[in-house]
Amino acid sequence: MMYAPVRYSEADYPRIDYQRREQFWDPIRLTLFILAIVAIIGIAIGIVTHFVVEDDNSFYYLASFKVTNIKYKENYGMRTSRDFIERSHQIEKMMSRIFRNSSGEGRFIKSHVIKLSPEKNGVNILMVLVFRYPSTDNTERIRKKIERILYQTMKTKQLPLTINKPSFTLTSIDRKKMRNLLKSRCGIRMTSSYMPLLAFSSTERIVQGRKTSMEGEWPWQASLQLKGKGHQCGASLISNTWMLTAAHCFRKNKDPSQWIVTFGTTITPPAVQRSVGKIIIHENYHQETNENDIALAQLATRVEFSNVVQRVCLPDSSIKLPPKTSVFVTGFGSIVDDGPTQNHLRQARVETISTEVCNRKDVYDGLVTSGMLCAGYMEGKIDACKGDSGGPLVYDNHDIWYLVGIVSWGQSCALPKKPGVYTRVSRYRDWIALKTGI
Ligand code: ARG
Repeated sequence: MMYAPVRYSEADYPRIDYQRREQFWDPIRLTLFILAIVAIIGIAIGIVTHFVVEDDNSFYYLASFKVTNIKYKENYGMRTSRDFIERSHQIEKMMSRIFRNSSGEGRFIKSHVIKLSPEKNGVNILMVLVFRYPSTDNTERIRKKIERILYQTMKTKQLPLTINKPSFTLTSIDRKKMRNLLKSRCGIRMTSSYMPLLAFSSTERIVQGRKTSMEGEWPWQASLQLKGKGHQCGASLISNTWMLTAAHCFRKNKDPSQWIVTFGTTITPPAVQRSVGKIIIHENYHQETNENDIALAQLATRVEFSNVVQRVCLPDSSIKLPPKTSVFVTGFGSIVDDGPTQNHLRQARVETISTEVCNRKDVYDGLVTSGMLCAGYMEGKIDACKGDSGGPLVYDNHDIWYLVGIVSWGQSCALPKKPGVYTRVSRYRDWIALKTGI
């Protein structure tokens, strides 16, 4: 076939062309081409359904039951109290043990305690449970399955908490209800499907950090901006109207009408923007020593919590983080000393450093007081920097995030033996309550 044209006379050339075209689209090529197109379309459909349908596979349930072998404590009424946190972890751990080991392995996603309330001879527990099942399954059938697994485990295994079986109720709820229930809790990060994000090991940032990958990853982070001058400082949302930041951010300008606040992973465009109505600077802030570097800013109008705007939890005044605890600092600050503000939010994983080490002669030589907290690395490299001030240093306690520090000061950025120094938020828990009622 290939040499066939040689035999044709000139007049036949058009037909040769035609034959060549026919050759190009020979059955094999045509089949391969069609197969390739089909494969591409198939993969595209696969990707789309993976993201769309996966979402629809989540089933949410509200569980309520009485536990009889524990007594109610007054602090259970406060969600950020150590008693509440420890008890809810125990319950959540027990739930994941029950459902992870069961035959429906991999179906259980997670659980969250919403409320602990007093009950005659025990404590009543309200919690949400999230499961993932094929969307062909129906809610009622899954509900029965969950109940069966629970009752069986209660019979066969020794559980740390005694669940009163007649009190157990399981109600199917939709995604919106689930979201509203979780919204009442602080320190929770949500993805667009309203599923709490699992804590993932994102590392580094600001100086030597990385961009945050997702909108809503640090939903309490705000940017404090001076009208006409742009970003000045970071801040953290602690309620629908209150933000916590550093006192030194208002050194040059204390007039609330000159400030605006934005939320979202970029400064431009912001996800949400608000004016500032009120600024409260700590009465004992000392510029020279950086002591009590803490301030409150109240938004002129409240923000509603969403996937991208959430409040962070305030730690109990008794919280103690041992040295080398992993914490995250986030901000729009510069990535080198004296560099420009970043438009995209950045994050870095740093480690707490004991005040004793931080006050060593070769480190900060006694400049770190009891209201401060050091975090970073002795070898330097990863740190907050200029423009991160006022922003959050957060600690992840079983997927619930606590504001443990406020970016305050440091000698230059990311230098060896010069870690970041933060305002120790737990020391100011009562001051915050006094000023805001939170
Ligand atoms: N004071 C600086 C600011 O105004 C932030 C200092 C943080 N420095 C550090 N090395 N961690 O933005």
